[in-house]
Amino acid sequence: MEPPAAVLPKEMTHSMDATTEEEYASQAKLLQEFTNLSTIKKAWTFKCNSGNSSQIMFSISQCNLIGNKRKTNILSAFISNESNHSVSFQWSPFPIEMTGVSTIVPSPSGLKLLVVKNGETGSPVLLEIWGPSQLLKEIPIPQSVHGSIYTDGWFEGISWNSDETLIAYVAEEPSPPKPTFDGSGYKKGASDKDCGIWKGQGDWEEDWGETYSGKRKPALFVLNINSGVIRAVEGIEESVSVGQVVWAPSSSTSSQKYLVFVGWSSKNGPQQVPRKLGIKYCYNRPCALYAVSAPFHELGNVTVDLATAINLTQGISSAFIPRFSPDGKLLVFLSAKSAVDSGAHCATDSLHKMDWPTDGKPHPDLSIVDVVPVVMCPEDGGFPGLYISSFLDQPWLSDGCTMILSSTWGCNEVILAVDVIRCRISQISPSVSASSWNVLALDGDNILAVSSSPIDPPQIKYGCFQEQKQSISSVGWNWLDVSSPLSYSEKAKSLLSSLHRSIMKIPVKSASENLSNGARKPFESIFVSHSNSQTDESCKDSQRNGPCNPLILILHGGPHSVSVSSYSKSLAFLSALGFNLLLVNYRGSLGFGEEALQSLPGKVGSQDVGDVLAALDYVIERGLADPSKVAVLGGSHGGFLTTHLIGQAPDRFVAACVRNPVCNLSLMVGTTDIPDWCYVEAYGNKGKTFFTEAPSMEHLSVLYSKSPISHLSKVKTPTLFLLGAQDLRVPVSNGLQYARALKEKGVEVKVIVFPNDVHAIERPQSDFESFLNIGVWFKKYCK
Ligand SMILES: *[C@@H]1O[C@H](CO)[C@@H](O)[C@H](O)[C@H]1NC(C)=O
Ligand SMILES: *[C@@H]1O[C@H](CO)[C@@H](O)[C@H](O)[C@H]1NC(C)=O
Ligand SMILES: *[C@@H]1O[C@H](CO)[C@@H](O)[C@H](O)[C@H]1NC(C)=O
Ligand SMILES: *[C@@H]1O[C@H](CO)[C@@H](O)[C@H](O)[C@H]1NC(C)=O
Ligand SMILES: *[C@@H]1O[C@H](CO)[C@@H](O)[C@H](O)[C@H]1NC(C)=O
Ligand SMILES: *[C@@H]1O[C@H](CO)[C@@H](O)[C@H](O)[C@H]1NC(C)=O
Ligand SMILES: *[C@@H]1O[C@H](CO)[C@@H](O)[C@H](O)[C@H]1NC(C)=O
Ligand SMILES: *[C@@H]1O[C@H](CO)[C@@H](O)[C@H](O)[C@H]1NC(C)=O
Repeated sequence: MEPPAAVLPKEMTHSMDATTEEEYASQAKLLQEFTNLSTIKKAWTFKCNSGNSSQIMFSISQCNLIGNKRKTNILSAFISNESNHSVSFQWSPFPIEMTGVSTIVPSPSGLKLLVVKNGETGSPVLLEIWGPSQLLKEIPIPQSVHGSIYTDGWFEGISWNSDETLIAYVAEEPSPPKPTFDGSGYKKGASDKDCGIWKGQGDWEEDWGETYSGKRKPALFVLNINSGVIRAVEGIEESVSVGQVVWAPSSSTSSQKYLVFVGWSSKNGPQQVPRKLGIKYCYNRPCALYAVSAPFHELGNVTVDLATAINLTQGISSAFIPRFSPDGKLLVFLSAKSAVDSGAHCATDSLHKMDWPTDGKPHPDLSIVDVVPVVMCPEDGGFPGLYISSFLDQPWLSDGCTMILSSTWGCNEVILAVDVIRCRISQISPSVSASSWNVLALDGDNILAVSSSPIDPPQIKYGCFQEQKQSISSVGWNWLDVSSPLSYSEKAKSLLSSLHRSIMKIPVKSASENLSNGARKPFESIFVSHSNSQTDESCKDSQRNGPCNPLILILHGGPHSVSVSSYSKSLAFLSALGFNLLLVNYRGSLGFGEEALQSLPGKVGSQDVGDVLAALDYVIERGLADPSKVAVLGGSHGGFLTTHLIGQAPDRFVAACVRNPVCNLSLMVGTTDIPDWCYVEAYGNKGKTFFTEAPSMEHLSVLYSKSPISHLSKVKTPTLFLLGAQDLRVPVSNGLQYARALKEKGVEVKVIVFPNDVHAIERPQSDFESFLNIGVWFKKYCK
């Protein structure tokens, strides 16, 4: 083949040689095939009057590389129930783009739709109320009332009351006044409209860190739809940030309405001083459910019962995602008390309930009952505990007591049914090894879900409960395939069709250590491979079977996070390039019980590094990988592991790639939004108690010695660095300093800095350029 570079003018090739440029061009073409596809984000179902059919609205997202954004589109379908064994979806002919829309929230009856348009920074927020055929009401909200409405999936909460007359929601509180100056100096009481004035900055305020940069405190508001009047909810302490609001059930005996919401105190610095520590990916921030009287009283001047918000969950250090049962008798919520109490940024969740007072009036002495407790050490193959990040708005089956939710169970995402009265839990998605299921919405007692695997793009599924069977368990559910217009590139599909995936259980090496039972159990890894058999010895006998594909170890961040068996376009791209992948869920990962998870803090850089090497040995010993063709990829804590590995085991990796890696904890502790994380992971749970904003030299030297930087002198592996300049979690200085130190030693290094990206590096163009470079880097060194 004619090398294309031969015909290019020299200056167009920059620093790339012709072969690399050719590789770059061909991989970019392949990556396009994986990037263009729409993914389903959310779904809402609406019952049709006829009874046997319903309608669904899907929110789907498509990456637009030229515009560097994700388009959100709405695609609708009509579901009709043909028989017990089939369901048919009639899709609308095209999706419609939701231009300028931040989020949509249908009313409980499904007859109205709230559309939130946050607009550009500084412009007024616009709320629209739609009916079935037209816009009913348009409410512009000036910045003096509140800033943009939270649609972040965490503080976010938008709730219609049952009459559909009021909407409660969370928005940025208005800006505090700033000092103003004019030609003669400080000017008291100047207005924006006066000319010849300028504004000072005023006091700096803490924000919630990574992804919340510059966002003002989340506060609670209620819109009266008929009058268009908006009121801030009163009685909430100034130090509390609010989120996840829902209306409490209305009572027949009182016209007073209450709101239940989650409150996070900003006093979570070391000495309970106001320091908002980063909250994104950090479930260890204490929070409580509160109840407060809602503004607007239909009967005019009734007395306000709860003028001051009351703490409903004083007995537990964490309570969030409140949901009332359909009959209004129970309030169910999730808790991350294990995370709060241990200091780990994420841990095993628990589910709780309280009886809601029959007179409808909340009080602080409601008792909290466990529904699903934290699982310390699961039985082999048994339920490992809950690992949940969200609930559906309406998670209930028609029996009024069964909640449907998605959770992580080992390497898989599964759908669970939880009976909150009898406190029973069952997995209802099929148990297929190395595949993941997520619930999108309920359609009556049927479930709309998505399933995928590392080699199977997402597929819509429709689950029907067969009432003949007695209990709500996996056997009682029939999962039907749904054909959809969301198609995948034929080329991508055919490249993935010959691949295999499996879950491997890797025995723990040094089991003689003083370890909890949960930490002695094998940990799991997902293996995606090109070979026909997952157990053959193809690499030991390359004469007969041909050479083994090169292997990439994939290391997740956190460390208390997990690589799950769902489809990832980026990993599918690397598979399609010819790599085998080993996604190692080292001990400390979510999904395997609390003891295994808590075995890691205090041992980062040793136990986790050992687990990754044990997983690598495991596949090499079985002839599934060629030890001379191994690369490693990780971001954040996965980048910490990657840089540790190339320092501690310099002969085992031919190439490495890191995304916003933690390389030097002694540098990170002074620059990150979560300095407490550095202490807990380096010292273990006790680190929580001696975390301070002013680390001593002893602390700094311990942090240094646990860091990859302390193994720098041994590194020789060529390493690619992908860094987000706006990252507040692991600031860019961490990766840059390490990369420069490697360069100084003469190690081959390539650095790409994305000026507008945060920790996740997921803006479409940045994501594309990242994975393209990962592909090219690994191809170059893994021949
Ligand atoms: C991806 O979409 C763009 C338009 O957004 C189109 O130009 C391009 O051909 C598509 N690529 C593939 C591989 O489908
Ligand atoms: C709904 O389904 C039932 C049972 O399949 C059938 O008898 C009835 O006619 C259906 N109703 C409508 C409106 O289609
Ligand atoms: C539905 O299933 C029930 C029980 O399995 C069966 O008796 C009935 O004939 C089925 N109906 C149809 C329309 O398939
Ligand atoms: C279809 O309707 C029948 C009778 O109403 C019901 O038993 C069955 O579960 C429904 N099936 C689906 C797929 O909705
Ligand atoms: C409401 O207030 C008005 C005047 O302030 C008073 O006349 C009326 O009795 C009050 N109504 C109730 C229900 O308290
Ligand atoms: C509510 O209870 C939680 C848990 O004990 C606590 O962290 C929080 O400070 C309490 N809030 C108030 C206002 O008492
Ligand atoms: C083992 O760990 C337990 C609990 O962490 C501790 O109480 C015990 O002293 C330890 N034993 C040894 C020999 O270190
Ligand atoms: C590591 O961090 C310490 C503390 O900030 C700093 O003094 C040192 O220069 C850093 N080393 C490297 C190579 O990043």
